[in-house]
Amino acid sequence: MYNTQTQLLFAEVNQHRRKKNAIVLAHNYQVPEVQDIADYVGDSLGLARKAAKTDADIIVFCGVHFMAETASITSPHKTVLIPDLDAGCSLADSITADQLREWKAQHPGAVVVSYVNTTAEVKAESDYCCTSSNAVGIVESIPEDQQILFLPDKFLGAYVEMITGRDLIIWDGACHVHEKIGELNLSEKQKEYPDAEFLIHPECGCSTSCMMKSAMYFDCKDGHVYSTSGMLDRARESEAEKFVVATETGILHRMEKENPGKQFYAANEESVCDYMKMITLENLRDALKYDQFEVKVPKELAQKAMLPIERMLQVS
Ligand code: 13P
Ligand code: SF4
Repeated sequence: MYNTQTQLLFAEVNQHRRKKNAIVLAHNYQVPEVQDIADYVGDSLGLARKAAKTDADIIVFCGVHFMAETASITSPHKTVLIPDLDAGCSLADSITADQLREWKAQHPGAVVVSYVNTTAEVKAESDYCCTSSNAVGIVESIPEDQQILFLPDKFLGAYVEMITGRDLIIWDGACHVHEKIGELNLSEKQKEYPDAEFLIHPECGCSTSCMMKSAMYFDCKDGHVYSTSGMLDRARESEAEKFVVATETGILHRMEKENPGKQFYAANEESVCDYMKMITLENLRDALKYDQFEVKVPKELAQKAMLPIERMLQVS
């Protein structure tokens, strides 16, 4: 139950959202009150699909900058707002368009698969875009003899290599939150909660080593490595009562809300994305009230970035 001040902010958000025909989209890592007032909460793929389809005039993106950019690319005629322009992403910052052009020049003939956690400039230099929920499907859609440059996340890249059996050329990038979730965290939690099921995001430093030791953590063939929404689906469907969750801790709010009676434990309690947490109920209210801050990808750049994004939206 929220206090009076929070409820007043909810009322203001509702009032401005209705008046302006706006939709509020929130990522699974957002603070609880932002998730609870959002029209839709999801993972990167779900949010990109929702943004591309909505008939609202304004999209307020409660997430990080590359997510708002993707919405601006798929919905060029809509106003896309982000409540704090500094909400960036360390993973997206791990490769620039210049670095990608140089890398491509070293591997002529290779195609580029970029994780959605990239800037619009990097997407415009890519052939395919993917998210954590369809990276395997995207790589499998590319002919087997085609050389692939995969960027920027080395852990997701290694995971995709392992599942598909393909040889990828992988950029050495990582997310500062997920790379610190290591095997030690999981083995400690396993001792603490021996009957818990493990749900692991593929950006985690431990994702591939855990897959190799799958019998230790999983009871199924391809492990429990999921996108954030995949983890939520699994938590709902599984008969387990305890779960160790290896990703940003914001996801625990929705897991607990949707599964009363089940218990969820963070693999590493310090896994907090400071960028995601820059969005607050107050700056969401201000975004709706003052139409701030617009994220607009220039037309020519957006047109170039559209093809890899369209490919991403087509593969589930
Ligand atoms: P998901 O697409 O799985 O929600 O991941 C987004 C992200 O930024 C993970 O850190
Ligand atoms: Fe980027 Fe990592 Fe934050 Fe996700 S958790 S938005 S990858 S910095």
